[in-house]
Amino acid sequence: MDLFDLSGRVAVITGGNGGLGLGMARGLVKSGANVAIWARNEAKNAKALLEVRSFGTAEAVAIPCDVAEEADVEAAMAKTLEIFGRVDVCFANAGISGAGTAIPDMTVEGWDRTLAVNARGPALTYKYVTRHMIERARNGDPGGKLIVTSSGQSIMGVNRSSDYAASKAAVNGLTRGAAFELARYQITANALLFGYYETDITAKADPKFAAWMEKRIPLRRPGDHEGLEGLAVFFASPHSDYITGQCLPVDGGLCIS
Ligand SMILES: NC(=O)c1ccc[n+]([C@@H]2O[C@H](COP(=O)([O-])OP(=O)(O)OC[C@H]3O[C@@H](n4cnc5c(N)ncnc54)[C@H](OP(=O)(O)O)[C@@H]3O)[C@@H](O)[C@H]2O)c1
Repeated sequence: MDLFDLSGRVAVITGGNGGLGLGMARGLVKSGANVAIWARNEAKNAKALLEVRSFGTAEAVAIPCDVAEEADVEAAMAKTLEIFGRVDVCFANAGISGAGTAIPDMTVEGWDRTLAVNARGPALTYKYVTRHMIERARNGDPGGKLIVTSSGQSIMGVNRSSDYAASKAAVNGLTRGAAFELARYQITANALLFGYYETDITAKADPKFAAWMEKRIPLRRPGDHEGLEGLAVFFASPHSDYITGQCLPVDGGLCIS
């Protein structure tokens, strides 16, 4: 028996067309889960699909969606249900870097954009995914797993990143609220506080940030993308069913450094 066989399960992964999300999508498809990627860029969506579809028999689809827009999220959920009939797992992973401004220079537009994608996005995603999960529970099929991509910055300080930090602290709060409120339906909610991974987001940052990170991370390396595969599978599998409401750093020890 394969302890981590996810055949027959359906996972949504927002921002699953690149970076951390694609790493997680790879693991889910390799373990047999059907995957719906929700993201905006159609060329990246097509490329990611081509890759994950080559792994095996599980089905993968990509649905264009801006998670900051409620109508998009509602439509993406409807499309996912039309294709797969159910959703068991949701990784609310899509996100952007902050506006990069110091506190005295912040703008309303910069602050609102970061919060719209990074905090409102996961909240809207959970809104529509849990409507379905709750309906399933009421029909005798309880359960569901919500996992949000948070950041070490939700619990530590970084220069010119207060909007990003606030957006990630918001999803830690969303996690605890969701875990408490939805436990009655056997739905769990957890946040993964990632440290430093090389992706399109970090490629845009000041190179000094990468050098500083690598010195501070006790394991002395950025996160490895292969490691995201098994991590996602664990949080999508029944083996994590008794973990809920947690904000777990995945950071090579960065937060204790
Ligand atoms: N890399 C790190 O070190 C690190 C550390 C901690 C946390 N994180 C978090 O990890 C998550 C993924 O970031 P990444 O590092 O993997 O960067 P990435 O490669 O730029 O991935 C970001 C993903 O989010 C999607 N996305 C962005 N805005 C979106 C929107 N409005 N609606 C839907 N999808 C959207 C992007 O696809 P489209 O552009 O096609 O929409 C892309 O798939 C983010 O939440 C980020 O804050 C990253």
